Amino acid sequence: MALESMTGMLGEAKEGGYAVGAFNILDYNSMLAVVKAAEEVKAPVIVQTSTKTVVFWGTDAIISWAREIAGRCPVPVALHLDHCKDLGLIKQCIDAGWTSVMIDASASPFEENLSLTKQIVAMAAGKQVSVEAELGRIVGVEEEISVAKDEAHLADPQQSERFCREASPDCFAPAIGRAHGIYKGEPKIAFDRIDVIAKRTHLPLALHGGTGLSDDVFKKGISLGCAKVNISTQIKYAFIDGFVSYHAAHDKEYNPLKVIGAQFSRIKNEVAQNMTLFGSAGRAA
Ligand code: 13P
Repeated sequence: MALESMTGMLGEAKEGGYAVGAFNILDYNSMLAVVKAAEEVKAPVIVQTSTKTVVFWGTDAIISWAREIAGRCPVPVALHLDHCKDLGLIKQCIDAGWTSVMIDASASPFEENLSLTKQIVAMAAGKQVSVEAELGRIVGVEEEISVAKDEAHLADPQQSERFCREASPDCFAPAIGRAHGIYKGEPKIAFDRIDVIAKRTHLPLALHGGTGLSDDVFKKGISLGCAKVNISTQIKYAFIDGFVSYHAAHDKEYNPLKVIGAQFSRIKNEVAQNMTLFGSAGRAA
């Protein structure tokens, strides 16, 4: 199938009470593993690229992988640019063929965030490109965006409502107490805020910082309106551990294709498990 935006798949997920997994890929092999997992469990999927990954490989390479892989896959696939504060790079990705982008102007004051988000929504309009926007601050490091604990704050429901009404993004990422990366201790997720913000904005919400959350946290967040779940750090671990553990067990072999194959299987299996947990498995049947 041709790449599609997140709008349809997230609308269906919100209606159906499940979430679409959004996985940060690193190269062709990890993109293929994520999409093959989706195909295997019959789930819609969002393939995400960080800005660093886009800068590393360039837009031409990534869009050609995505079109080729999605083109021979029977389930819906969106290609999404994760957390980006660089308007030039967002435009470059839209022009290259990304079907979804995230403007992350959450470090800016409210009015500036609103204005930048409106600009990106206008840029995407009429191009079948969905837009995700963020309000509040998520602890941890995601790309060049680093937020310390004392800088983090939760999204305000009233501001969230105004932000979404005026900017009209397709997906909203309010800060609700989760962090990027490996959690140190139990994360305090503000479920009451997810509930209120989902009801006031009427938008599918994105749950960021998916790595390390418990099954119960995922299920509760999804039941309250999180229709997109972001997983990045887990993919980085599977990418490196899949490679290293195969080589450690076969240290005389030096067969790169077998190592790459082991890495592929590790990522594919973990992604498929996530899709089952998020309830998206079987939804693209
Ligand atoms: P993790 O790295 O915690 O999985 O978070 C991913 C994320 O939210 C990407 O935007």
